Amino acid sequence: MSDILELKDVSFFAQNRSIVEDFSWRYEEGKTTALAGPSGGGKSTVLKLSAGLLVPGRGEVCFRGKNIAHMSHKENLEFRAEAAFVFQDSALWANQNLLQILELPLQIHFPRMSAAERGKRIEEVLKEVGYKKEMAIRPSMLSMGEQKLIAFARAMICRPRLLFLDEWTESLDGSAAGRLVNLVKSRQEAHDTVIFVSHDLRIIRDLADQVLMIQDGKLLITLTREQLDSDAHLAQYLEKGIAS
Ligand SMILES: Nc1ncnc2c1ncn2[C@@H]1O[C@H](COP(=O)(O)OP(=O)(O)OP(=O)(O)O)[C@@H](O)[C@H]1O
Ligand SMILES: [Mg+2]
Repeated sequence: MSDILELKDVSFFAQNRSIVEDFSWRYEEGKTTALAGPSGGGKSTVLKLSAGLLVPGRGEVCFRGKNIAHMSHKENLEFRAEAAFVFQDSALWANQNLLQILELPLQIHFPRMSAAERGKRIEEVLKEVGYKKEMAIRPSMLSMGEQKLIAFARAMICRPRLLFLDEWTESLDGSAAGRLVNLVKSRQEAHDTVIFVSHDLRIIRDLADQVLMIQDGKLLITLTREQLDSDAHLAQYLEKGIAS
């Protein structure tokens, strides 16, 4: 398998300090990578840099060999059609209702899709994530867990092949979290690329082909799932880092 995304000596600065420092990594196409580590360590920032949502202060992020920061509008739209992001805080548009939130990506990426087809796709995705309630309401009327379901549905709606998921099972009950984990498994079976942040060692063990341990904005250690399964010390070390 080839590399789909590469971070080359990436640094990110804010308020006169470095949040991410000299971070290099190649994400393999069709593989699942977990970003783990202590709170405030830089996982969300690395995920957003990887997705081209933040522009590095130094270094570059390349999607299929092309620097995301230098993409044309057309190239960027093609990249966006292939990729999807679930934000840690869900980041649903506050002034839109849930139906509008799910319709917008379809309108942008499939402008010729009919309203009936959009409705069908939305129904399908809602069923997959298990959201059964009202759609003509705004996100502020949802619980945090329900917002996560809609954020996940929005990410899946255009059938992306590259998924960025930030703490995507947080605030969900066990059965809802399990449903989303199974949805990610089905994407893995279809050889999609998944990059996710989680504090949950069970989910990391269940899904990740490799784990990047991030602390103080730096890549501290990389582990394979086999290493986690076979080496109790490494697993313990990771769990400590996640929990701290
Ligand atoms: N735009 C910004 N301006 C200033 N500081 C920032 C900015 N973005 C992130 N930070 C800081 O960088 C550090 C890393 O943040 P980040 O959100 O990436 O951590 P994280 O590993 O995702 O943490 P958590 O597990 O709590 O979600 C934090 O100390 C945060 O306050
Ligand atoms: Mg975070």
